[in-house]
Amino acid sequence: MKIKTAVFPAAGLGTRFLPATKSQPKEMLPLVDKPMIQYVIEEAQKSGIEHVIIITGRGKNSIEDHFDMSFELEHNLREKGKSELLELVESISSMITISYVRQKEALGLGHAILCAKHLVGNEPFAVFLGDDIVDSEEPCMAQMIKAWDKYQCPVIAVEKVDMANISSYGVIAGDQTEDRLYKISDMVEKPKVEDAPSDLAIIGRYILTPEIFDILEKTQKGAGGEIQLTDGLRTLLKSQDFYGYQFHGNRYDTGSKIGFLKATVEFALKREDLGAEFRDYLKNLDI
Ligand code: G1P
Repeated sequence: MKIKTAVFPAAGLGTRFLPATKSQPKEMLPLVDKPMIQYVIEEAQKSGIEHVIIITGRGKNSIEDHFDMSFELEHNLREKGKSELLELVESISSMITISYVRQKEALGLGHAILCAKHLVGNEPFAVFLGDDIVDSEEPCMAQMIKAWDKYQCPVIAVEKVDMANISSYGVIAGDQTEDRLYKISDMVEKPKVEDAPSDLAIIGRYILTPEIFDILEKTQKGAGGEIQLTDGLRTLLKSQDFYGYQFHGNRYDTGSKIGFLKATVEFALKREDLGAEFRDYLKNLDI
């Protein structure tokens, strides 16, 4: 079965970026000049996803506006003959089909995914977490879909991280079966360093089967008092084979300020229109 649908949870409060996120969604904060969410939606589109379901909450309306047509702006750009900008703006609203579902209460990532149950139906689907932005030649999800095509069972993105940071992640236990592929035997959400089964952290890209929905409905609150996706996956693991895929590419944790800054600097340095001047500026910086 083809992976056509993706779920993108975007209902979080974004408290780590206050005050910037007091009245705007963190997903709309720009890396250089593009909102973070657009990087991820572009990855979905380039990976062959046809329909994205964004799980939103209060105060997230600007996400819908961003991916909608903007008649006034488009009219204005057309009148002024700014054809490049017009093309850029038009390409955003025609990129991919998007549906929106409200998560009424912040009950955790597992609960957010569950909110998409009626729209996903009985098909395998992808999950993208917007705090992880992966810069790679072949989109991260496209790499994972290859593993899905081969095994037709759930695949989650993993990355080796420094053990000092392991408690910020879901962590897998498993055996390597192929280059970059691990057969998962267990997983745990945000373990203490001494309890972590490996240094392979779960990164925010998943391919899941629809059986996860019934499981999440019965999953009790876990770490942080929230319904955790990792706890649901752990139950799914009892009835389905499960793979961890160590993707190619640079991952930025843009949910943290330092990760956000690193992504901003590196994306700016890669830009044709800014890179050279910005590199010069950084080289001569003396503070
Ligand atoms: C979520 C998941 C965690 C995963 C992480 C990746 O945690 O629950 O398993 O490792 O995303 O970014 P969060 O960062 O939302 O606390």
